[in-house]
Amino acid sequence: MAVFSIHGDIIWTEEPGSFRSVNNGYLTIEDEKIVSVSSSAPSCRIVDAEDCLVIPGLSDLHLHAPQYAFCGLYMDEELLDWLNNHTFPEEGKYADAEYADRAYSKLVRDLLRGPDTRVSVFGTIHTDTTLCLMQKLEEAGFSGFAGKVNMDRNSPDFLTEKTEQSLAETERFVREAGKFRNMKPVITPRFIPSCSDRLMEGLSEIIRKYDLPVQSHLDENLSEIEWVKELCPYSSSYADAYDRFGMLSSKSIMAHCVYLNDEEIELMRKRGSFIAHSPSSNANLSSGIAPIRKYLDAGLKIGLSSDVSGGSSLSMFRIIQDAISVSKLLWRLKEGSGRALSFAEAFYLASKAGGEFFGKTGSFEPGYDADVVILDDSADSTILRPELSVEERLEYYVYAHAEKSVKAKFIKGRKVFSEE
Ligand code: GUN
Ligand code: FE
Repeated sequence: MAVFSIHGDIIWTEEPGSFRSVNNGYLTIEDEKIVSVSSSAPSCRIVDAEDCLVIPGLSDLHLHAPQYAFCGLYMDEELLDWLNNHTFPEEGKYADAEYADRAYSKLVRDLLRGPDTRVSVFGTIHTDTTLCLMQKLEEAGFSGFAGKVNMDRNSPDFLTEKTEQSLAETERFVREAGKFRNMKPVITPRFIPSCSDRLMEGLSEIIRKYDLPVQSHLDENLSEIEWVKELCPYSSSYADAYDRFGMLSSKSIMAHCVYLNDEEIELMRKRGSFIAHSPSSNANLSSGIAPIRKYLDAGLKIGLSSDVSGGSSLSMFRIIQDAISVSKLLWRLKEGSGRALSFAEAFYLASKAGGEFFGKTGSFEPGYDADVVILDDSADSTILRPELSVEERLEYYVYAHAEKSVKAKFIKGRKVFSEE
């Protein structure tokens, strides 16, 4: 059995709003799991991260792999124009295996040097290149989910599937993805406007047959919501349009949820579905500000997500900053919206809360998966550095070094990245 211990300044959150830390501590790992955090050295191999921060791996609950190529471009439009003018044309290119190979290699390389250990990604409608994406994530050591996207209406010809073919390809995707150990398939209807009722019915059968998770978009943009009302006059809400196909459960991630009404909040709570809060994307696409305090108070499950490339950065540190920033703006601008997220709360959402979707990850409690990130702040430029607590050093790092490469990263106890 492989036992080792990481020696450094260890910090994590077990509950919203408060950090735990052990300065100059030892994080002991056996095989894939966390064993303990202690202040005395255990008698096993020690990995030296002295003077470095040791944090749990973060989870990105929602990103679009094929959009990374234009991450940081085309931020002047709202959702539906942005999709038609920029996103769909780019996603069409992923029919080409050589293009997809190059683009996905770059994404995975950049993800590896950041703080994420778990991801739930969208591919495109193309089965083979989405399998190629999964293979790259798996080989890099990532755990999580990837989905072949389904679209059979209201989309350009080059990105529109025939309903029956979309279903057959989805089953082929699910079966072929079975060869991966850590990356798993997730059913991925893009959103209601691009999926016919017949497609949704067929997907719900596949979900039941293979007991699969689901990811999609919900209540992101006001024009989108109006459109869904027209498309589904029989549904009492946008969330209900998914629910009637069995797509809301504790194995569902719904991205955005900027505009959930009371009925939808209750439905999401009852089903135990996860919200992928995407503050950067919601600002870039002028979508709005999701009332996260209200959702937390209502008992909803919430994690954070980059939503690349609605979000213009892959860095979950940047997303933590933005989650805090937009919650402050909402508190200031909208009476009764409740207090803003604290740094500790936002870190909790990015680590343990979002991690819950993947199992036990994002905390250093015994039995959690050993997903660990080491951050080197030893040469930090702030002259305050010698006086700072571990918590303050982490906050400084998240704000000052969001895009910097991590020093090392472990997923399920295995080192998957090291700066050297
Ligand atoms: N809704 C449907 N597709 C998308 C997408 O690619 N990005 C975002 N942000 N919202 C969507
Ligand atoms: Fe998205």
